[in-house]
Amino acid sequence: MKTLSQINCQNKKVFLRVDFNVPLDEAGNVRDDTRIRAALPTIRYLLDAQAKLVVASHLGRPKGKYDPKLSLKSVAQKFQELIGRPVTLAPDVVGAEVEELKSKLEPGQILLLENLRFHPGETANDENFAQKLASQIDVYVNDAFGASHRAHASVVGMVRFVPEKAAGFLMEKEVTYLRKAIENPERPYVAILGGAKVSDKIAIIESLLDKANILLVGGAMAYTFFRATGQEVGQSFVENDQIEKARAILDKAKQKGVDLYLPVDHVVAPSLSPEVTPSVIEGLPIPAGMMAGDIGPKTITMFVSLINQARTIFWNGPVGVFEFEPFSKGTFSIAKAIAASTATSIVGGGDSVSALKKAGVTSQITHVSTGGGASLEFIAYGTLPGIDALD
Ligand code: 3PG
Repeated sequence: MKTLSQINCQNKKVFLRVDFNVPLDEAGNVRDDTRIRAALPTIRYLLDAQAKLVVASHLGRPKGKYDPKLSLKSVAQKFQELIGRPVTLAPDVVGAEVEELKSKLEPGQILLLENLRFHPGETANDENFAQKLASQIDVYVNDAFGASHRAHASVVGMVRFVPEKAAGFLMEKEVTYLRKAIENPERPYVAILGGAKVSDKIAIIESLLDKANILLVGGAMAYTFFRATGQEVGQSFVENDQIEKARAILDKAKQKGVDLYLPVDHVVAPSLSPEVTPSVIEGLPIPAGMMAGDIGPKTITMFVSLINQARTIFWNGPVGVFEFEPFSKGTFSIAKAIAASTATSIVGGGDSVSALKKAGVTSQITHVSTGGGASLEFIAYGTLPGIDALD
């Protein structure tokens, strides 16, 4: 993977793929600009290097059609504010008007294309669309780590139609830190996985069984594991079609000598909402009519003491419904314990990252990934389609 500093970009037209897929508020304004800020070092470097910059991103999932709510208009405004230079938002992604805007670009100027996913060719990785994206472009730079698990036209398809290609600084940083979690991690290596679904995490769990020493499982997905051991979990969310898979994971963990811990107590309520007064249940079963929304105090103590022993920590997925105060203690305790640890700590996934922010501890984490699915896939497979395309 060539990096940016190995390429001369002066007077060259550079296509920079970024992941500006940021959350918007109800008024359509950028609610969290972390991903835009994360790409600024690459953008500043390219502007200083006198590149003619064509920046491109997707936003949401507009399914190949124009959707005014998913226009990059407010992203362009925020981007302009942060970079402190004019940003021209193109009316489209490809086509005659965009070609003209591209051809008029001067060194140090920025053209932001409209949402790549307004065209079906993007997600279909259509060759014709990819060629159009690559038109007039001299250098392709991928700084969109968070989107590089998608084999889409702007991530994979167009790369072979551009003479030179490189990874941006954010991509380089993500790969460097996430590699630490897969190649020779300092031990003990503790991975904490949460979130609702086992099905989203099968590949990462399987790969962590080869890499981690201790696996702490929380969140709703723990209850699919409990069902796999035949235990009653009341109304807790269970993926019935994943029970077999969960059983196989438990067996594999035993065979491989990985200590897989599930919650030993549970914060439960008849429904999961901010208004309920929950109770704590030790062990199982969870009574019928009750559902688990967080790990209980004993589990917090156990998980925190295991985190305290770690030399490498990887965390993805909240261990409770932390958006609701009655179920937030587990996730915030995990966030604070990781932050207080002197281990190499890597956190990925939108929810875990937002929990870190709410707990006010983001700056104490070794590496906070801008990728959700991308960080999971990278840890599971050691590469991503968008990274392979650069080689
Ligand atoms: C993300 O937010 O994880 C990336 O931007 C990818 O978005 P996607 O899941 O819609 O492909």
